[in-house]
Amino acid sequence: MSVATAISDRRKTVLNAIDPDKDVDGFHPVNVGRLSIGEESLLPCTPHGSVHLIKHALGDNLSGKNAVVIGRSNIVGKPMAALLLAESCTVTIVHSRTQNIEEICRQADIVVAAVGRPEMVNADWIKEGACVIDVGINRIERDGKNKLVGDVDFASASEKAAHITPVPGGVGPMTIAMLLLNTLTAFKRLENLN
Ligand SMILES: NC(=O)c1ccc[n+]([C@@H]2O[C@H](COP(=O)([O-])OP(=O)(O)OC[C@H]3O[C@@H](n4cnc5c(N)ncnc54)[C@H](OP(=O)(O)O)[C@@H]3O)[C@@H](O)[C@H]2O)c1
Repeated sequence: MSVATAISDRRKTVLNAIDPDKDVDGFHPVNVGRLSIGEESLLPCTPHGSVHLIKHALGDNLSGKNAVVIGRSNIVGKPMAALLLAESCTVTIVHSRTQNIEEICRQADIVVAAVGRPEMVNADWIKEGACVIDVGINRIERDGKNKLVGDVDFASASEKAAHITPVPGGVGPMTIAMLLLNTLTAFKRLENLN
């Protein structure tokens, strides 16, 4: 058995050992399934927090917006796309094999970058007035100092975007807030509290 398979098997074992009703990260297959068919579930924290940020910027009605999610991981990209679809956005997921990725991003009213590549997305990828959510957290060395940067080149992209999240201080704190919200929600549901 390869190391990757062994890690994947252990990950599954751990996930499946969690009670779905106490799964405050929203990663259990039952909650993933509930999200995909639009049933009430515990939502993954980072995508959930990102939707809050998008609604704070654009208002509650995201219907018809053209959204591009960069990245297709189980913990960010896929649930992010599912949540935006549930908001009636037209959703495109792009990934490492996508061709013309910049061109696709340039069509987007909403861009969510969840890649793990420092400052990959720059102003050329962004439509004037777009809403840009930077999920990435990358540690780099610059000018002899350690620095945290996102997947978006904030300085250039903010010249085009109407709304853009910084790194650090954007999606990260919202993820923690959503984790606390899920914990409270799970407790209230289990105790039959309003
Ligand atoms: N702020 C927060 O609270 C928070 C929470 C979670 C994660 N993060 C950060 O978000 C980033 C992504 O996390 P993750 O767990 O989703 O990462 P991941 O599992 O490594 O997934 C990265 C995704 O990016 C895609 N990708 C890689 N290189 C690309 C390229 N050159 N062009 C287009 N797509 C590319 C990959 O495509 P393939 O599938 O084709 O390989 C993959 O789908 C990381 O920096 C992580 O630290 C932040």
